[in-house]
Amino acid sequence: MQSVNLVLIGLLSIVMSRFVSGKSKSHSSGIKHSPSKVRWKSTIDMIEDENYPVENVYVTTPDGYILNIHRIPHAKYGRRNGKVAYLQHGASGSSSDWIYFGPKNALGFILADEGYDVWLGNTRGNTYSRNHTILNPDTDVEFWDYTWHEMGVFDIPSIIDHILEKTGTDGVYYVGHSQGSTVFYVMASMKPEYNKKIKTHISLAPIVYLSHLKSPILRVLAASEKHFSELFRRAGVYELLPNRGDLVAIAKEVCPSIIGNVLCQNILYMLVGFSPKQMNFNRVPLDHMPAGTGMKVFMHFIQEIRSKKFCRYDYGTSGNMKKYGQTSPPNYDLKKITAPVYIIYSENDMLYATEDIEKLFKELPNRQEKLLITDRLWGHLDFLYGKDAPKFVYNEIVMIFGQQ
Ligand SMILES: *[C@@H]1O[C@H](CO)[C@@H](O)[C@H](O)[C@H]1NC(C)=O
Repeated sequence: MQSVNLVLIGLLSIVMSRFVSGKSKSHSSGIKHSPSKVRWKSTIDMIEDENYPVENVYVTTPDGYILNIHRIPHAKYGRRNGKVAYLQHGASGSSSDWIYFGPKNALGFILADEGYDVWLGNTRGNTYSRNHTILNPDTDVEFWDYTWHEMGVFDIPSIIDHILEKTGTDGVYYVGHSQGSTVFYVMASMKPEYNKKIKTHISLAPIVYLSHLKSPILRVLAASEKHFSELFRRAGVYELLPNRGDLVAIAKEVCPSIIGNVLCQNILYMLVGFSPKQMNFNRVPLDHMPAGTGMKVFMHFIQEIRSKKFCRYDYGTSGNMKKYGQTSPPNYDLKKITAPVYIIYSENDMLYATEDIEKLFKELPNRQEKLLITDRLWGHLDFLYGKDAPKFVYNEIVMIFGQQ
């Protein structure tokens, strides 16, 4: 274990040194990009390639972020069941997570085939939503001054209101993966009036309580959270892992080589977890994932690991006093969540343990069911990239939504 830690710290140092020495704020890096044979395809391109109807939609939040979200309004031959599904990606993901593996394999297409009007969110700061009415993400550091708290309070309610207005429905069938569920819990507790706009929420691998987090890399980071945030602040790093950034460019060059492949797989495994039986590492869409986020978003998660609470961002004693009128950040009040909630989780997720899920589930007033994936190796990313995800997870989602 000690040697694993040493290797990790070594790797992290390499990563950090890139950040510190590199011009990490700008997208023009010193890395030579190998010319790729295929043109980069957006979510819209990929849906059009499959001959499904698709719409490009812009939603502006009350604090000025312009979110570019996507919609598959119905199945190929116009089949509709009158229900509206809203799929929300995880940290550093994007709308492409729900369509990448194509019809019959990806949840977005599966729900469209069932007749759902399918909306795919993109939260502030990712590939599609690096946009603001006043701020410029490349030059204004204020653009990156948010966490998943602001996504839950501004982005998700704005997206849902837009969906309700455009479709005339009175509630959405909401699936959130990872941070896509975190933002649901933030919204439903901070803005309880939104509970009635949710027909059913299904959390896949929800990130709420992280007390039993297993990921060794994130444990190391959590242990020295203050140093890391200071280091990043000094280095002027506000954006984390944009898809055209330095680190991703390195990953794209290193991961396909034989040794690099083993290294990348291990890093990804230790970060979040996946089952080698389920996920073919070479199928991970490195041209779409990671899709970028803000550094502060990541630090808010890191704080949860240490605090063992589901609470607002910790600004330190005096900062908290100013912001919240108390010395420690207030908890999110899960008792206010009245929307029906289902949780689908697994045992080999590096980000939480069964105890964390049980604690969350117990606190939800309108809990329905928590479903454990029977494959004991199933991990965090298998919900999106696992070859049996349609069989184990998406079928279940279609059944749950079908009953409501
Ligand atoms: C920003 O949003 C506007 C829509 O309000 C859109 O026309 C523009 O293309 C977007 N810019 C970027 C860089 O996404």
